[in-house]
Amino acid sequence: MALKTWNPRSVSQYIPLNISRKEWKRGDRRELMKRDLMERYKPHYRRHPYLKKRIEKNFDDFWRFYTSIYGDGYEQQRWIIRIFNSILQGLLDRKKDMLQLDQEREKNQLWFQSEEIVGGVLYVDLFAGDLKKLREKIPYLKELGINFLHLMPLLRPRDGLNDGGYAVQNYRDVDRRLGTYDDLRKLSRVLHNEGINLVLDFVMNHTAKEHGWAQAAMSGHTRYQRFYHMFDDRTIPDMYENHLIEVFPDFAPGNFSYYPQIDKWVWTTFYEFQWDLNYANPDVFHAMFDEMVHLVNTGTDCLRLDAVPYLWKKLGTHCQNQEEAHHLLRAYRALLKILSPGVLFMAEAIVAPQEIVRYLGVDGFEGKECDLAYNATLMSHLWHALASENTHLIRTSLSKLPRAPRNTSWVNYIRCHDDIGWGISDEFAADVHQNGHHTRMFCTDFYTGKLANSYAEGYAFQRDYYSGEARVSGTTASLAGLQKAMVEAEDLGIDDSIRRIMLLKNVIFSWKGIPLIYLGDEIGQTNDYTYLSNPLKLRDNRWVHRPRMLWDKVDLRDMPGTIEHRLFSEFRKMVDARKRTPAIHGASKDRLVILDIDSIFCFERCSKHQDTLFLSNFSREPVHVPTGMLPEKWQKRHFRDLYSDRVLDFSFNEIVLEPYGFYWLTGTKEKPSIEAENTIIDVIVETEFGENVYLVGNIPELGSWNPDKAIGPLDPSSYPSWEIHMKLPANTYFEFQWVKKRNGQIIEWSPDKYWMKSGDEISYY
Ligand code: GLC
Repeated sequence: MALKTWNPRSVSQYIPLNISRKEWKRGDRRELMKRDLMERYKPHYRRHPYLKKRIEKNFDDFWRFYTSIYGDGYEQQRWIIRIFNSILQGLLDRKKDMLQLDQEREKNQLWFQSEEIVGGVLYVDLFAGDLKKLREKIPYLKELGINFLHLMPLLRPRDGLNDGGYAVQNYRDVDRRLGTYDDLRKLSRVLHNEGINLVLDFVMNHTAKEHGWAQAAMSGHTRYQRFYHMFDDRTIPDMYENHLIEVFPDFAPGNFSYYPQIDKWVWTTFYEFQWDLNYANPDVFHAMFDEMVHLVNTGTDCLRLDAVPYLWKKLGTHCQNQEEAHHLLRAYRALLKILSPGVLFMAEAIVAPQEIVRYLGVDGFEGKECDLAYNATLMSHLWHALASENTHLIRTSLSKLPRAPRNTSWVNYIRCHDDIGWGISDEFAADVHQNGHHTRMFCTDFYTGKLANSYAEGYAFQRDYYSGEARVSGTTASLAGLQKAMVEAEDLGIDDSIRRIMLLKNVIFSWKGIPLIYLGDEIGQTNDYTYLSNPLKLRDNRWVHRPRMLWDKVDLRDMPGTIEHRLFSEFRKMVDARKRTPAIHGASKDRLVILDIDSIFCFERCSKHQDTLFLSNFSREPVHVPTGMLPEKWQKRHFRDLYSDRVLDFSFNEIVLEPYGFYWLTGTKEKPSIEAENTIIDVIVETEFGENVYLVGNIPELGSWNPDKAIGPLDPSSYPSWEIHMKLPANTYFEFQWVKKRNGQIIEWSPDKYWMKSGDEISYY
């Protein structure tokens, strides 16, 4: 029987009150309640000496936000005591090593801001098979340098369709296909021993309609009917519906579903089988807190709070981002700081840019709400910048938004398991003289391959019937052009897509926060179409970018020349670079540097150890940044590029970025490296008898653009290809042109400028 899966005893339990009605009426209720609780738990202070202090420190916050929703009537005490009893029970059940880690993290609360933290996300079944087999893959995660691991929903979902696990039937059991609760606990222990933090989903907004509470509601139990939003007819749903949006208009239109068995309409924001919980009911607050406590005690380091914008419903609004939703999160945050201060809250709030940051607790609530939030603004604007080769919009949007509060961080990602929504605000678009709607349409058209110059292979997800706007599905590699280039066996296209992928990654690895990689992207996994033959996935094209991990491809990471090797080694290089760049720590100060060059995205991060300037070129063309454009302290000639870990010499007072290139620069007194690489340059030029071909370029070895110092003549032995072998400083990007000479006089210049990198295998012309 489903009802057995939770314990209703906790609520029916009789709770005697110590405070008289009179005292409650006249006194300071918050103080009375706090003192009462501290008194109640006295017998436990010996074993849990920190408990008293934690209550003292966090109770006021809890009280403030909790009572703002549920009031502070006399009977409210019973709910509060129940909640605190759950904390106590949680503490008693909490394993020793977790208790210890909590205490360590209380002293180092901002541990998650370290530059050492690198995140990864995966579906257990698609990546490894099950929880046990995932343990065998830990060496691979370590090889990648991942130490903050989000496992996609793994609590017991309903059978059949379950929205990728986001329809939980039982929060105290694990998806049977993946293993048991013990396997999960064991995995968490092993991960911790290996220095990997575990992130688990807490699906907070809704349960599956098969959950015990929903089943009880379905069989007419009024207490459980109040757990959900239920209506006898369409009158109130229709009133709400006037202001609501549809999250899944294609496969779950409307926000309410009818159940003849109880003759009621139930609020279902997402799929019909996901019933929204009614947080206006303190019973729900407590019941969900109990589930949270249970999950936290598996040994998770961070709870990903799913779909938090939808927690509170208010007639006449679109029922997202309501103030009360923030209060709920703050009340829960205060409670978990008492039970498990080492556990973070990560908000999944994919909403308008101005709204997302509020989940990090701005305006005086810094550190009181979520510690982390998905940076959907950065994500969608990065893709826009890539498609348009223009960074005005990303710069403007980011500069207009409040910063993440000091004691919080972003989770920076290029893509996750969900579609990419174009979180581009009309207001910010207007600031750069664009129309928001057109810009969002452009993004969809570009990434679904509809535009002539598009390299992307993505799919429209849930097109809005009225505006025509749609979100986009596709893996990083497919959206960045790798899939198309591989099909067309286009070397240059493959090269460009690898550059694009690394360009995007470079920003999420250096922007304030934790970079989060969808596993498989590190070897360039492209779209997976097998979902089309699975009736449970078929209608939801988000599965196209949730591919099964191809371990055969992973094996190619050690084979030079393969795409997997190129991407994997760049990824490894980036992880290493991040870990040795102190300015990436969350405590450093950051600032956008706006340069008057369309395709350049530039920011500076300054720590007490080192300042670093991050420059990215979103154009498919090389770009020259005159150092005179930079803030004064960056007007230098020699830099260490922390990404390639080399000293670079920018002569001519300009920094040259290759197409889709980037630098992580810091000042240095060291001399440029002298390591040289053999480089073959060849150009195709038709000549007449007596004519010769020379080269001139932007580096001293090629005459620094002085035609009198052009080098050559080149060797025409495979005419019309003219070739020269040179030793050039390693890893140097350079530009050049050929010149044709007759009798020592220049008679023609190449119509184009070419560029390449020393040691490159391919030259570009
Ligand atoms: C979140 C999840 C998404 C799911 C939705 C409903 O947005 O990321 O995959 O469909 O919540 O649970």
